[in-house]
Amino acid sequence: MSSSSNLTFSVQPGGQLTGSIRVPGDKSISHRSIMLGSLAEGVTHVSGFLEGEDSLATLQAFRNMGVKIDGPENGTVVIHGVGMHGLRAPESDLDLGNSGTSMRLLSGLLAGQEFDSTLVGDSSLSSRPMRRVTGPLAQMGAQIQANEDGTAPLKIKGGIQLKGIDYPMPVASAQVKSSLLLAGLYADGETSVTEPAPTRDHTERMLNGFGYQVKRDGSRISLSGGGKLTACDIDVPADISSAAFFLVGATIAPDSDLVLEHVGMNPTRDGVINILRLMGADIEVNNQRDVGGEPVADLRVRSTKLNGIRIPEDQVPLAIDEFPSIFIAAACAEGETVLTGAEELRVKESDRIQVMADGLLVLGIDAQATEDGIRIQGGQLSGGEVESHGDHRIAMSFAMAALRADGAIKINDCRNVDTSFPGFDSLASSVGLNITAMDEE
Ligand code: S3P
Repeated sequence: MSSSSNLTFSVQPGGQLTGSIRVPGDKSISHRSIMLGSLAEGVTHVSGFLEGEDSLATLQAFRNMGVKIDGPENGTVVIHGVGMHGLRAPESDLDLGNSGTSMRLLSGLLAGQEFDSTLVGDSSLSSRPMRRVTGPLAQMGAQIQANEDGTAPLKIKGGIQLKGIDYPMPVASAQVKSSLLLAGLYADGETSVTEPAPTRDHTERMLNGFGYQVKRDGSRISLSGGGKLTACDIDVPADISSAAFFLVGATIAPDSDLVLEHVGMNPTRDGVINILRLMGADIEVNNQRDVGGEPVADLRVRSTKLNGIRIPEDQVPLAIDEFPSIFIAAACAEGETVLTGAEELRVKESDRIQVMADGLLVLGIDAQATEDGIRIQGGQLSGGEVESHGDHRIAMSFAMAALRADGAIKINDCRNVDTSFPGFDSLASSVGLNITAMDEE
């Protein structure tokens, strides 16, 4: 099987989703478990680790910097921490594939090391904006060379003593916040980041779990450099971003009744539930519990009719990765759904506003891209052939659309589904989606 071939999904129309499943582990938490486990003193045991290409790219990067990491085996990873100053210079460039989180968080972490390093990625990652991290890191004293337009490869100079800064973040980005906090571990004095809106706080929670003090004062998050991390055990919940496809699928497909087990319910990530409920979705949150500092629950979702809404802008950062699937819900809703304040969607793994609008139009839905969002008029989805542009979340969202389409949907360029959701097609077909993955030369 050549990796340059086109992996397509072909999804037959109709069906319903029933049963009980656990989707793979949270991507954001999986990345951070490798990073902090590697820098800790002692051995960190991780369970529920996402064995997707993105988090595996982070894992490989730390192996290339001399960290002994066992696994992953059935979601278990054992990290033999080397301490804050124990990483070694990698022998070659660190290849982070499609993973923006790896590149942005590692830029901060590596800016404080004794050695030089170079971060590279695939064509999508190499066209994504990196100035949002290299800019503030430069203010901390970091020397990072990028292309003229601010894109990767990033050449990071080692052996520089960073200094803490007070950074008011212009965009609500957990990746920028986390990058600066990780650089701050190595900086003189205090590093603080002020968020324009709440973003996912897994870095802060996990630093606390590793015994590192992080302070929050309103929207200002700060830490002081020079401390140490102590190994701990991490149970990674199922990824709400992967659960989102099934929340939408079971909502739009008549006669569905589906349970999603052990889903991470961090309040900085639950925008998809809030938005779907505003549209009328029937989502029950059961067995709420706390697992290693992160809230977790089982979600039961049953089909309902949806109404179009104006999506509240304060929900945008809390649902930032779930909009492709929310747009499918909007296509199946009665009336118009309007999203604004979401220009960030244009610089994700693809331009998610344009790519979704194009695909929805192919499927007969009136969808108009705007500068910072989209307007979608609910209607009858038809069959057709759509392009995912190598974006995992676009591919999985259009797969769910077939549940309500009146013809088959073919989706091109689906290989990157493996970055966040290996086994998506078989798990989805086990609960009722009529999906076939095919390799085309
Ligand atoms: C992530 C933060 C989000 C999200 C990405 C993962 C993280 O990006 O889109 O998939 O793990 O910190 P931004 O913080 O840039 O919005």
